[in-house]
Amino acid sequence: MINVAIIGAGYIGQVHANTYKQINNARIFAIVDSIEEKGKKLADQFDANYFSNIDELLNDKNIADIDCIDICSPTFLHSEMAIKTANAGKDFLIEKPLSLSLEEADKIIEAVKRNKVQAMVGHVLRFWPEYIKAKEIVDSGDIGKPLFAFSERLTVTPDWHVNKWGFDEKHSGGAALDLHIHDLDYLIWLLGKPVIVKSQGVYNPKLGGLVHITTNIEFKNGFSGFAEGGWSFTGNFPFTMVLRIICENGTIEWVFRAGKNIEERNQKNDLIVYRSDGSVYVPNVEQKDPFLTECEYFINCLDFNRPIEKATIADGRESLKLTLAAIESAKNKNTVYLK
Ligand SMILES: NC(=O)c1ccc[n+]([C@@H]2O[C@H](COP(=O)([O-])OP(=O)(O)OC[C@H]3O[C@@H](n4cnc5c(N)ncnc54)[C@H](O)[C@@H]3O)[C@@H](O)[C@H]2O)c1
Repeated sequence: MINVAIIGAGYIGQVHANTYKQINNARIFAIVDSIEEKGKKLADQFDANYFSNIDELLNDKNIADIDCIDICSPTFLHSEMAIKTANAGKDFLIEKPLSLSLEEADKIIEAVKRNKVQAMVGHVLRFWPEYIKAKEIVDSGDIGKPLFAFSERLTVTPDWHVNKWGFDEKHSGGAALDLHIHDLDYLIWLLGKPVIVKSQGVYNPKLGGLVHITTNIEFKNGFSGFAEGGWSFTGNFPFTMVLRIICENGTIEWVFRAGKNIEERNQKNDLIVYRSDGSVYVPNVEQKDPFLTECEYFINCLDFNRPIEKATIADGRESLKLTLAAIESAKNKNTVYLK
């Protein structure tokens, strides 16, 4: 049994808590949140202990009973919490983005290595059935090499962040770092190392900086990609994800439109493969909640003493690096060349 402490009882902390409940070899041991009422409410729901901050948790007499920490706090607290967690010798899952800067990411990676703990970043598209299936088809070579991939994520402005931390660019990095990073991470996973980045965006300092951004990427192996993301949509605009991969002998397409947000993510939209010989097929995509797949993978790596090989902190750093380059490009209206 792996005992988990979740830091942050907000939107994603609650998603993770409800997910661990479905995992047989996981138990929620503690919930940490600076808002007592909120933290206690979630802790009570799972019969867990409540702590108001990470230091209280790490100094508790029962800390030895906790196997790992799931960091679901606002992004500007990620590096501080990840480093404290690693220094306490605890493995951790941390929500994306890994941190706000590469300097912070490097300090996290250094602390993980020094303390010999395991760490994973919540890049959930790497656990999402349709995104996995599309990559499997590309990797199989069934419809030839990939030539171009498009990945999109659009949503209404988030209205749940505590103290509106998401609308402070210094605290969240705006929609570019909070949302667009998902698609950039996926394109790296699918197409490899990015080398040239050119982005454009809509800047609104009242909603976190870059609220809408498009990014053109050239990859080392010659493939190209394009991603679009933003949270400036209003009213009843549905949460939208689109994936389109053009390969030498066909195209893979997935268009997903949910309700207001990802909690209504369980509706099924077919992934379709259009072959160049005119045939169209719908591959079987086994439906499983991506957050469950993600948390289960993390728990099983710890329980069965396996190294974390998916969504590693090195992957989290690469996605952060590309996203920061996209932000720089959009702001300075230049092309960024990555080493
Ligand atoms: N993977 C995904 O699809 C996904 C979706 C949403 C959010 N996220 C990420 O998850 C993180 C949290 O986002 P959210 O939407 O849940 O935010 P949120 O504002 O809903 O929740 C954050 C929680 O952290 C608590 N908190 C703040 N400071 C704290 C402190 N010092 N100690 C303990 N608790 C503290 C707040 O009280 C709040 O309950 C962000 O990094 C975000 O980018 C990921």
